[in-house]
Amino acid sequence: MVHTDATLMAEEIIEKYERYLNPGLSRLFRYMGLATVEWEARGSTVTDIKGDQYLDLLGGYGMFGAGHSHPKIVEAVKNQLDRMAMPTKILLNKPMADLAELLAEVTPGDLQYSFFGNSGTEAVEAALKLAKLATKKQGIISTQGAFHGKTLGALSATGRELFRNPFLPLLPGFKHVAYGDAQAVREAIDDDTAAVIVEPIQGEGGVIVPPPGYLRELREICDAFGVLLIADEVQTGMGRTGKLFAVEHEGVVPDILCLAKALGGGIMPIGAIVARPHLWQGMSESPFLHTSTFGGNPLACAAAIAAIKVTVEENLSSKAEAMGNKFLQSFHAAREKYPEVVAAVRGKGLLIGIEFADAGYAGYAIAELVNNKVLAAYTLNNPKVIRVEPPLVITEEEVASAISIWEKIFAQASEMKDDI
Ligand SMILES: Cc1ncc(COP(=O)(O)O)c(C=O)c1O
Repeated sequence: MVHTDATLMAEEIIEKYERYLNPGLSRLFRYMGLATVEWEARGSTVTDIKGDQYLDLLGGYGMFGAGHSHPKIVEAVKNQLDRMAMPTKILLNKPMADLAELLAEVTPGDLQYSFFGNSGTEAVEAALKLAKLATKKQGIISTQGAFHGKTLGALSATGRELFRNPFLPLLPGFKHVAYGDAQAVREAIDDDTAAVIVEPIQGEGGVIVPPPGYLRELREICDAFGVLLIADEVQTGMGRTGKLFAVEHEGVVPDILCLAKALGGGIMPIGAIVARPHLWQGMSESPFLHTSTFGGNPLACAAAIAAIKVTVEENLSSKAEAMGNKFLQSFHAAREKYPEVVAAVRGKGLLIGIEFADAGYAGYAIAELVNNKVLAAYTLNNPKVIRVEPPLVITEEEVASAISIWEKIFAQASEMKDDI
């Protein structure tokens, strides 16, 4: 259903943003030409309140792995909703137990025990607390440009000053070293280091792919020094990079794995950590040490179980690899043809970043994508980089259409180089 007075309604909604949410945000929506209202969505297509259809190349920052409104995930959640939405917390919760079992099965190595929250940043909080609890040490090594979330603990690991500076001092004991440099991690380890936290590919940092062997080296260093390795797969997990979990590209088993975003199948919010059994002693001795009222609720767990099944049964990891390669091939060709516009192209599977030579080109590209009814955004820590992170269910036709729009934009941008 599309509203006939849609333009009016969009205007009313953006005014509410201005008055009741955040005036800066409403200005940004207007500036980006996105002052319209999302109404319904299926697969990779979002329809706004006016009936205009957009191809979603943003994928909710990685949330829509299984696409929008995947029917099997919607059905699983509806079935659960009809019986019981939220847990009593005092009786046994079957979806939570089933999800924990499934995660132990599909995650690498001996990862076994799960804790559930409601977001990526909560997964990171749980991982940091578990690392401190299990090692009885305080130090955490993170990386420059990292994005691990914005609650105070996770923000201490996040590596962008814009987000950190207004809230300093953050947690003590955090060090940030260059991403992709295993030697820098080795040098930063001291007697009080509990863990190294790392994204297998830095998403918000600008889709930075580390050199091959980086994660393996980190694993070896952590083992040599008795330090835990936390893999933050909030964005790279659930098939996004061509494997169910990105650590599998290097055969690495982290001590703690953080998941969120696509874990909820684009239907429910959920965050999780999965940890190796020997780390769980403190949690087992004191099961109320770290808790969450909504964490592990039946609706979210039903969504996550269905999302994992859909990801595996529909081979979404292989699809991500195949469709990602089509995009990458075309973007690399554009980089060769228009080196004055496209500075770099990086990525794996359907986590791709196009780095422009100037933020002005990136702004132009976003505006043109919107004009062509394509949704896209910058990476949070690097505004020169536009991400291409569509639902993994994107079809070949949709990829072909997106590529032809991008080709047009690169060519136009190159013609206007004197104006940038
Ligand atoms: C790698 C990574 N970790 C953590 C987070 C935080 O997740 P959330 O926004 O759900 O708190 C993000 C969000 O972009 C992320 O990309």
